[in-house]
Amino acid sequence: MSPEITFDPYTGLYSEANALLRSSAIRDLMSVVGRHDVISFAGGLPHINGLPPEELGSVLASVVEEGFAEAFQYGETEGREPLKAALVEVMAAEGIKADPDHVLITTGSQQALDLLGRIFIDPGDPIVMEGPTYVGALSAFRPAGPSVVTVPLDDEGIRTDLLAGELERLVERPKFIYVVPTFQNPAGVTMHPRRREELLVLAEQYDALIIEDNPYGLLRFEGEPVGPLASSGYANIVYLGTLSKIVSPGIRTGWVLAPPPIMERLAMLKQGADLCSPTLSQMFAEEYIRRGLWLKNLENLKPIYHARRDAMIQALEKHFPEGSRWTRPQGGLFLWVTLPRFLDTEKMLPLAIEQRVAFVPGTAFYADGSGANHMRLNFSFSSEDQIAEGIKRLGKVIRKEIELYRSLGLDA
Ligand SMILES: Cc1ncc(COP(=O)(O)O)c(C=O)c1O
Repeated sequence: MSPEITFDPYTGLYSEANALLRSSAIRDLMSVVGRHDVISFAGGLPHINGLPPEELGSVLASVVEEGFAEAFQYGETEGREPLKAALVEVMAAEGIKADPDHVLITTGSQQALDLLGRIFIDPGDPIVMEGPTYVGALSAFRPAGPSVVTVPLDDEGIRTDLLAGELERLVERPKFIYVVPTFQNPAGVTMHPRRREELLVLAEQYDALIIEDNPYGLLRFEGEPVGPLASSGYANIVYLGTLSKIVSPGIRTGWVLAPPPIMERLAMLKQGADLCSPTLSQMFAEEYIRRGLWLKNLENLKPIYHARRDAMIQALEKHFPEGSRWTRPQGGLFLWVTLPRFLDTEKMLPLAIEQRVAFVPGTAFYADGSGANHMRLNFSFSSEDQIAEGIKRLGKVIRKEIELYRSLGLDA
């Protein structure tokens, strides 16, 4: 197996992130991040230690006892009907009125991204993505050879004023606009309702399909909920959901809500990819949702993530040098740091790992490898004490780099 297709269970760093980090030296470095003495803000691991084993055991036992013949057999490519019905209920919690016939179960939402890339993109086709964007989407779409139009985002989400200019400039209609509107990965920002409206108006005007990827929307621990684009009534949307962050990524259960012609194409491709998503996982998810345990887990997670976000921001304020900024996510798993322009976080990573702390450099999140003065920090996985210590170590590394650049007169 090549290093590009491995998954590091300690860091939670996706293989795609490894592959996208330009230098192989960085990839090699990332493999030491799994050492227990390294505090890692690099991965995207949710906190699963709050899932009571006896609860999970009881759900699994009932699936095995009552659904044995189905749970250990192949299932329908589109996914099990009872799970679709349960996911309609999950989507309703965010205000989406979904028809179960328009739902397709996928093996994590990562599979949906892969299938969508294969359906829509021919070499050279323009697609629109946020800058920065989800590294796994970049790696899912990249093999099809798109021409990625990157539209920057700010604290209110994608810059719709710039998007308007890009759409006007494009000779061809983009194959789709890919967005993570709520608690974006990697930036942690949420698209403002006004921007959402502007995006929908532009999509309609240019007849563009929107892919809305929403793994984090239900993980709001602060502020008022903002409805997903898919709750707007705009028809030309493919919505992606997943149980990875609200239950567990280990069950690999995601879903797509899409107009029927797209659903059919997805189902055909999925058949070739894996015939069906694991039936055992699907039945586990059905029963877990049926018992209302997903809501209980969400309520457990929110205060933990809230406290960890607070611990991270407090430590950043204390230890990061003047001239650095960060986002203040009201939910989700990540925040995004902007350092003085002359710094390069990819170069800084080996020094950070030497100090036993890790992060993902900003360059991983841009199609063109820009973003060198940014870093993504995960706050869901480390404890508050680890966060305080890790950010302190990182602050020291950054200050030392700044001193070095100053001494060389390169701090402009
Ligand atoms: C924005 C986004 N989309 C999709 C995924 C993939 O999730 P899944 O575990 O459902 O494949 C992730 C995982 O971190 C993500 O952050």
